[in-house]
Amino acid sequence: MAQRIDGKVLAARYKAEAASGAAALQKQGIAPRLAVIIVGENPASKTYVAGKARDCAECGILSDVIELPEQTGEQALLERVAALNADDAVHGVLVQLPLPAHIQESHVIHAIAPEKDVDGFTPINVGRMVLGEECFLPCTPAGCLAMLQSTGVPIAGKDAVVIGRSNIVGKPMALLLTAQNATVTLCHSRTENLREKCAAANILIAAVGKAGFVTADMVKPGAIVIDVGINRGADGRLCGDVDFAAASEKAAFISPVPGGVGLMTRAMLMQNTVKAARLQSGLL
Ligand code: GUN
Repeated sequence: MAQRIDGKVLAARYKAEAASGAAALQKQGIAPRLAVIIVGENPASKTYVAGKARDCAECGILSDVIELPEQTGEQALLERVAALNADDAVHGVLVQLPLPAHIQESHVIHAIAPEKDVDGFTPINVGRMVLGEECFLPCTPAGCLAMLQSTGVPIAGKDAVVIGRSNIVGKPMALLLTAQNATVTLCHSRTENLREKCAAANILIAAVGKAGFVTADMVKPGAIVIDVGINRGADGRLCGDVDFAAASEKAAFISPVPGGVGLMTRAMLMQNTVKAARLQSGLL
């Protein structure tokens, strides 16, 4: 029976570290501040943004949630980003994705100042990550890595499979695992023999977005399974990409949904925001 990787306990630890960093900055007269822009009424995005604001309050980080209507034009959004870039009181700028179809996400992401890019999505930060240079790591893959490290199982030399090649999760996850000296296979919708590849993995990261996608036969006995999915099951309940009950019978460690990666993503965002405040105050 697998050991559960408890995102709640682990996230609390990372948030406590962010909170003590924020408190130290406040003693020096610096109030770490995160600005989050959300465009439109996507219910999932609204829930995520509310969670981020709650975490900020808990960590002693100021937060502004800027809610813009669905019909906001790309130019208007770019102007809001530019104003936040120029505002010395704001240390982190985050634009919640997805954006409405009439706005090109890449235009908006590229407009965020790299030193305020607490999501780690801008080309400068992505490039630095590829090169193994100091940067803001994207929060979800950084959270997954922290979960893997929490098991105490060495990552170096292991076979890791990442399912999903998104810019937000799959691609950066593959890079972070490579930097940890894992041997990485990045799988996607066109991958042949996906089941066999997964079943050979010591580390399996599922970032597909389909409930029940990873079945027990895709899990190697003794593997570490990290579930990035956030889906609604047939019963309407929140669930991940992994058949948790069945996979738990085979894995050595497994992360649950809810109570897993989602909380870690937010904890990493708190850490990145404190780091951004330090950076902009000349303390790094
Ligand atoms: N949408 C889903 N995950 C994320 C994230 O980590 N950052 C942003 N900005 N949008 C998201």
